[in-house]
Amino acid sequence: MERMHDRGYALITGASQGLGAALATELAGHGFGVLLVARSAQALQEVARQAGALNGGRAHVLTADLFAPGAVEQVADRVHGLNVPLTCVVNNAGQGLWGRFDGLGLGDQLRMMHLNMDVPVELTHRLLPLLKGAKRAYVLNVSSMTAYTALATMAVYGGSKAFLLRWSRALRAELAGTGVSVTAVCPGSIITGFTARAGMQAMDDLARKFGSGPGPVAASAVKAMLKGKAEVVPGLLNRITAKAQGWLPDSLNEKVANGIYLKRLPPEEKGQAG
Ligand SMILES: NC(=O)c1ccc[n+]([C@@H]2O[C@H](COP(=O)([O-])OP(=O)(O)OC[C@H]3O[C@@H](n4cnc5c(N)ncnc54)[C@H](OP(=O)(O)O)[C@@H]3O)[C@@H](O)[C@H]2O)c1
Repeated sequence: MERMHDRGYALITGASQGLGAALATELAGHGFGVLLVARSAQALQEVARQAGALNGGRAHVLTADLFAPGAVEQVADRVHGLNVPLTCVVNNAGQGLWGRFDGLGLGDQLRMMHLNMDVPVELTHRLLPLLKGAKRAYVLNVSSMTAYTALATMAVYGGSKAFLLRWSRALRAELAGTGVSVTAVCPGSIITGFTARAGMQAMDDLARKFGSGPGPVAASAVKAMLKGKAEVVPGLLNRITAKAQGWLPDSLNEKVANGIYLKRLPPEEKGQAG
């Protein structure tokens, strides 16, 4: 790793566990102070302790429930109030829901859309003036490989991640020349508590077989971000898959992916799908 120097502060949403916690320690190891956002205060304190051991103790916990109305504005106000040099915003907090669109609760899906799309947009909009004040700054958006292919059983989740990727690319073009670089990371399966929380235990065997731990994904994402890349798919196998999907027609990609996912629905839901 390059010699550590002070790179300002990175705010990371969803930093209490999984990929967000790994991104926080990775960024701390690269010299960023960290501002850690999630609901679980105790888990955030532990991540702050680990990150602080790597960056000279520059770690703040900002406990917030980003589902709550006004929460993003409150987080942004607290960041402005801290008066630290903000140089990086990582839009990582996200949630999945697995199942047929009409079998999943409408309220649950709308909440997920809010967390996966509205929160990154609002947070970035509110914090961009601080980023623009820095000589070099970054936005890292955590999308997903599901952004590349419409996916039955994850219709709304996949749509939310496709939105994030498109928004990320366009924002990057708009900010060219300002010193703020925008990167999207599109991971495949990461072994975290995500699948259990998304109700997709039926896919766990595939996730275990082809998935990666959050550490290597975070390392790949931060490396791409610091190099100013537009997009990164962590992991060689995932990169090959994404490239191949780009060459093949969407209809074929979707037929293959939908087949794998629909097959794993519980029998009562599979009947409806057929
Ligand atoms: N795991 C995968 O296979 C995979 C693959 C591709 C992309 N991704 C994306 O990677 C990102 C991180 O996923 P992960 O696997 O690390 O998931 P995870 O282990 O479930 O972690 C999600 C994080 O988001 C936080 N969060 C959830 N709801 C929140 C809320 N209302 N307010 C504040 N924070 C909230 C959680 O903290 P609290 O519960 O403490 O609030 C937690 O820190 C997500 O955007 C996900 O879509 C994951």
